[in-house]
Amino acid sequence: GISLVVAPDANAAAAIVADRFASLITANPQAVLGLATGGTPVQTYQQLVQKVQQGQLSFQSVQSFNLDEYVGLKGDHPQSYRSFMNENLFHQVDINLDRTHVPDGAAADLADQCQSYEAMIREAGGIDLQLLGIGLNGHIAFNEPGSAADSRTRLVDLTANTIQANARFFDTIDEVPKQAVTMGIGTIMESKGIVLLATGEGKSHAVERMIQGPVDVELPASILQQHPSLTVVTDPAAASQI
Ligand code: GLP
Repeated sequence: GISLVVAPDANAAAAIVADRFASLITANPQAVLGLATGGTPVQTYQQLVQKVQQGQLSFQSVQSFNLDEYVGLKGDHPQSYRSFMNENLFHQVDINLDRTHVPDGAAADLADQCQSYEAMIREAGGIDLQLLGIGLNGHIAFNEPGSAADSRTRLVDLTANTIQANARFFDTIDEVPKQAVTMGIGTIMESKGIVLLATGEGKSHAVERMIQGPVDVELPASILQQHPSLTVVTDPAAASQI
């Protein structure tokens, strides 16, 4: 079932999520983390960086797997999700970069890349705690509406809405990749725990449908209702339609 936590503001919401990851890593220094990109998790990563800088936390033995990556962008492209993770978290903490995994959207054989990503997650023993955001249309990672509940890591087309929403990170909308490699909904559902962070009025409709709507592939996040350990953390604005 879903447990919903409405924090007083976005910063407090990020603190709840950061504390959840910090407790996991403290209890299990070799934890396998599932990480996310986008505007939403930035504050969470800042708070984790602070804990490391204050000597309260160490990432040195963790492993991480990111949800997704744009197709066609090399890891060193400034808008790649690999670059995002390096800047916002990995380069600021004591993590071993060899133990951080982001799909390679520039791989020559993307189907093979997807299969080996799944295999690496399995070999790591599965993901202990997966961080998620939510798209305006209810997508999780890059699983757009219509994605199957049992979908695996694969190549996907982005919807026009998602390309538009993510254009703010690029100079022009034409630079936004139209495809991505993403963990599937089935992959995400196998995480032992999931914490979904949503902030801002813009997400309120998707959050309401995720929690109160029927389980419907047209709102991919609603499938998470069937996960045994899902915590949704929001600010008041994102919870305003519940
Ligand atoms: C992107 C990412 C998702 C993210 C979502 C929301 O498309 N692939 O993982 O959750 O958009 O992003 P933001 O947090 O910037 O609103």
